[in-house]
Amino acid sequence: MEMGKILLAMEEYTFTFLAMAVGFLVVAYLYEPYWKVRHIPGPVPLPLIGHLHLLAKHGPDVFPVLAKKHGPVFRFHVGRQPLIIVADAELCKEVGIKKFKSMPNRSLPSPIANSPIHLKGLFATRDSRWSAMRNIIVSVYQPSHLAGLIPAMESCIRRAAAASLGDGGVEVVFSDLALSLATDVIGQAAFGADFGLSGKPAPPSVDGVAAAAEKAAASEFINMHIYSTTSLKMDLSGSLSTIAGTFLPFLQKPLRQALLRIPGSADREITRVNGELRRMMDAIVAARAAEASPAPALAPRVPHKSKDFLSVVLAARESDASTRELLSPDYLSALTYEHLLAGSATTAFTLSSLVYLVANHPEVEEKLLKEIDAFGPRDDDRVPTAEDLQTKFPYLDQVVKESMRFFMVSPLVARETSEKVTIGGYALPKGTWVWMAPGVLAKDPVNFPEPEVFRPERFDPAGDEQRRRHPYAFIPFGIGPRVCIGQKFALQEIKLAVIHLYQRYVFRHSPRMESPLEFQFGIVLNFKHGVKLQVIKRRKDC
Ligand code: HEM
Repeated sequence: MEMGKILLAMEEYTFTFLAMAVGFLVVAYLYEPYWKVRHIPGPVPLPLIGHLHLLAKHGPDVFPVLAKKHGPVFRFHVGRQPLIIVADAELCKEVGIKKFKSMPNRSLPSPIANSPIHLKGLFATRDSRWSAMRNIIVSVYQPSHLAGLIPAMESCIRRAAAASLGDGGVEVVFSDLALSLATDVIGQAAFGADFGLSGKPAPPSVDGVAAAAEKAAASEFINMHIYSTTSLKMDLSGSLSTIAGTFLPFLQKPLRQALLRIPGSADREITRVNGELRRMMDAIVAARAAEASPAPALAPRVPHKSKDFLSVVLAARESDASTRELLSPDYLSALTYEHLLAGSATTAFTLSSLVYLVANHPEVEEKLLKEIDAFGPRDDDRVPTAEDLQTKFPYLDQVVKESMRFFMVSPLVARETSEKVTIGGYALPKGTWVWMAPGVLAKDPVNFPEPEVFRPERFDPAGDEQRRRHPYAFIPFGIGPRVCIGQKFALQEIKLAVIHLYQRYVFRHSPRMESPLEFQFGIVLNFKHGVKLQVIKRRKDC
């Protein structure tokens, strides 16, 4: 009888012990990453969500506030995962350049970790694979080669402006136009393919039905592209498995597999769209690899004399067996898609920001128009050369920089420690997620007095403000060996577009434009409701 009681009690306790052990393991799992960096200052995280509620409420504006309160190195928890945010120019130099060897890779937040198409590009690959791939690609972005891309860029810009802006007097969602334009430019310059998204006139031989089909295919492509880009969300509005991955990373994969079977789930839709885009990319790559004719319907081949991104990587593949192994079909199509993604959303956002900001700063517009008009008569078809862009448009250069500072497209730049390292006096163990905060630097009054004022002159190289500023206080393209590979490509395209547009038009905010602006915080920043503008054709005398 006694024995029976003891066994019963043990049974009861066993259950309690088991429940406690499981509870302990769950708590240990949730707190393990925090424990290792608990010595770094930061706000108190909420259980499970960490500080995501702050991000959902304030967007990236939360980081300057936290930096002010906690100092230039602080903790920010994305669900279970602590990020160590570095918000000081000198410390960013330490992370990105001086101690690069200890932090050569990017940590991958759940939206990317969840997205197979993004995992094999340059952005996500690591260590020697990354450096081998980057060394192959980097030659495409050398200045001498970029100069040869000017005619292709200019023809896309000309076509987009003619098709969407015409004689003015219209209202446009400029951010959509900019995305179509930037995607077309990447298509031509990187793949030698004409997507025709920003207003390709139908060739005379094409009948009405075929032209309509081509237009529908182009519009579906851009919709899928927008969907894929904006589905990479950093807050709590992503797919269910992405959200789960933020809290409990081990759940992400199995949950995703389960959700893929449920019709209508966001996971299934994202996977379908990414699969579709990848098939399109694969078709372009296969056509180019075989130099087959005809090319896929969506992307007729453009005769190109200069080497483009695809020809360089395809040629490299043929050079030796190890490169062929490195650039296997999976990596090749991921790199191709990455170029489309990285090269279009960012550039489009920057161009849209610039036009939006200039539209309500008449003094900036006047100076910009003066500089552009001084280049030559408006009706003249003279296109700036690479040298013209460098020497004849100093004010445009300042306007581009100030627009990028004002609305920073990548307010955070990720790294992960691959060994123990000290930053700003704090020891960080291997595996720590260290994220630099160019967005905080850009709004720091120490580097940019009156940071909420749009004033391009602050980037005047002869000005005091520019001379006093820390050389790494303005890093919209990142920093160090992993700096944006397409930086010069993007700046060339943006400058050509601004010159072409302002030679012919000026812009005003549409009454439908919301105020204040709302942003979507995805893997890059985006305008939530687009940039809606009225287009005014410039008269010859003004
Ligand atoms: C205004 C336009 C752009 C902005 C603001 C921008 C910004 C950035 C930033 C902040 C990074 C991270 C750098 C770092 O970690 O230090 C990056 C990386 C990258 N960008 Fe851009 N980017 C732009 C345009 C482009 C274009 C046009 C391309 C390609 C044609 C491109 C391709 C890439 C790639 C492949 C990486 C990863 C580089 C690596 O890990 O080696 N970007 N970009």
